[in-house]
Amino acid sequence: MYGPQMSLAARLESYKIAVENGDNLDDFSHSEIKRMRKALRKEADRSNKYKNISGPQRKNLLKVQERLREVVGLPVDKAEIEENWDQFPEEACQTILEKLDVQYRHNTLQDSHGPESGFEQLNSVLTRATKYQEKFIPQEVSLLHKVWWICKGDFSDVAVLDIGGGNACMCLFASMILDCYSVCIDYVCPPEELCGELYLSEEDRERLFKRITCDVRDVDFESLFEVLHARGKKRIVILAKHLCGCGTDLALTFAKEFQQYCSRKGFF
Ligand SMILES: C[S@@+](CC[C@H](N)C(=O)[O-])C[C@H]1O[C@@H](n2cnc3c(N)ncnc32)[C@H](O)[C@@H]1O
Repeated sequence: MYGPQMSLAARLESYKIAVENGDNLDDFSHSEIKRMRKALRKEADRSNKYKNISGPQRKNLLKVQERLREVVGLPVDKAEIEENWDQFPEEACQTILEKLDVQYRHNTLQDSHGPESGFEQLNSVLTRATKYQEKFIPQEVSLLHKVWWICKGDFSDVAVLDIGGGNACMCLFASMILDCYSVCIDYVCPPEELCGELYLSEEDRERLFKRITCDVRDVDFESLFEVLHARGKKRIVILAKHLCGCGTDLALTFAKEFQQYCSRKGFF
């Protein structure tokens, strides 16, 4: 059934399925098969060129490219943007980095990869619904390994601050596995059964963990500093995993300002 009842896209889809399944193509005329092959070749070229990025996503990316040039006063040339759709102009990036006073770009961070067995090991530590295990374990293993790598395996004077830490699973993993102190900062304190720290003994909780319930904008630097200082913590690793809205920007501002506060105190 081809014609008004079936669009070209739908027809192409049934052609693809027939080819994949090795079905016979009697349902397609010779000229139609030629057309389908041509359409598939075009589709493959497009997806190679655009690295499998879908049409709507690419449209957004082009818009970002356009705005980036506008913001820094570079000419907006659609043909040039189309050509360089996957590379932001160095001049624009530089201007923005300077304006935002960014010292380290993401691609200056060194890659670090942990052993694959970490997934299984962490998986066995905590009982969570499968969908949460599947979603969170890779993130948690990866972050734990990075914390380990940044601290070079010595955690005696390390505290991990998890901003927007929610149920505190991430920072408690750090505390228990790396034996470091951790602080979970979140403006919402989850219901008791979802507060990870309440599953620790009182003694371990006191030794390893603190929860601060407030907006990251309003953290009292002095009392946070005192908590860390009293425990001899001098190196602070800040995590901010999956914050919503402007949470990540606020976490970056917190990191910068808290570091300045600590240096004024002659620490870190
Ligand atoms: C999507 S959840 C992520 C929770 C956890 N980091 C994770 O990856 O499972 C975002 C968390 O960030 C917290 N959050 C967002 N903005 C915040 C802010 N400005 N100050 C403190 N917490 C914030 C929310 O309350 C929420 O618990």
